Amino acid sequence: MRILGIESSCDETGVAVYDDEQGLVSHVLHTQIAMHAEYGGVVPELASRDHIKRIVPLVRMAVEKADMSLKDLSAIAYTAGPGLIGALLTGAMGAGALAYSLNIPSVPVHHMEGHLLAPMLETPRPEFPFVALLISGGHTMLIKVAKPGSYELLGQSVDDAAGEAFDKTAKLLGLPYPGGPGLEALAKRGDGQRFNFPRPMIKSPNCDFSFAGLKTAVLNACLEHRDHLDEVRCDIARAFTEAVAETLVIKCRRALRLTGLKTLVVAGGVSANTDIRSSLNSLMEKESGHAFFARREFCTDNGAMIALAGMMRFKAGQIGDGAIKVFPRWPLTELKAL
Ligand code: KG4
Ligand code: ZN
Repeated sequence: MRILGIESSCDETGVAVYDDEQGLVSHVLHTQIAMHAEYGGVVPELASRDHIKRIVPLVRMAVEKADMSLKDLSAIAYTAGPGLIGALLTGAMGAGALAYSLNIPSVPVHHMEGHLLAPMLETPRPEFPFVALLISGGHTMLIKVAKPGSYELLGQSVDDAAGEAFDKTAKLLGLPYPGGPGLEALAKRGDGQRFNFPRPMIKSPNCDFSFAGLKTAVLNACLEHRDHLDEVRCDIARAFTEAVAETLVIKCRRALRLTGLKTLVVAGGVSANTDIRSSLNSLMEKESGHAFFARREFCTDNGAMIALAGMMRFKAGQIGDGAIKVFPRWPLTELKAL
């Protein structure tokens, strides 16, 4: 069985083909980052219009790269939410039209389930059950995953998401949107001793996060050093990254101890950060367990994760009813277990 996956929830159009036996066969991506950069963030209407232009050529490319024809597909998976409503609708309509014309089912996929399962595109694959840390632009969550689709929320951010904190801090340091990759590069050249930022909520006895206070601490440091910000940017970036990484480590350790699990799966855009990856790898070494990540290009939005999650839902018979439906807000915990 082969499934085509379409991702269009935000500013990336991703299309991929996943084969039941061979795994990922092809994937292509168009990012709108350059288009939104001059506005300092994603402009929803521009995002939708660009997805409309990209979907059909990308579907053609993904199918061509897989050396197959559309007729070889068993189903079309697409991101049905959460995300920007217009952007989601472009993918849902593209997938719906294609599925209807080929007389095959369409499969709605939850974007965060896609992220969460993306490390399963790698070898070795993580085994269920595990604790998942989802760190993206819109979400920061710790989840107990008993099996695909069975998601118990252990904790989440009470304010900004981790990616949002990266983007806002990057903006204060004069970096373009999205700030994560630029901030990572700055931090590599920084001295972590010069600033000491708070590790928010580490004393509260739960798995919740808070990143808004950290952003304010960065703002204060920027104001204090505004006359010579260029000299301290790298140090601020380093200290910020260390504060985020240590907070994530403390909360992940708590989640592992609480659940008694030894496998940590880390997913979402922020999991591309090499400093955060190495902090979580050392945690798991100390805990005599293992951390699993997707390859860096599959940490941020992509079609491969949607094709993989779509294949799992398709095989479990969870297909769409043919109507074009999207869910801009959609709690992960509402999904059916497989
Ligand atoms: O998962 P994602 O692509 O989109 C959402 O579903 O939100 O995550 C995007 C977020 C952005 O906030 C971006 O700055 C952050 O991931 N990000 C990074 C890195 N690469 C992307 N944050 C830290 N370090 C990175 N290397
Ligand atoms: Zn995402």
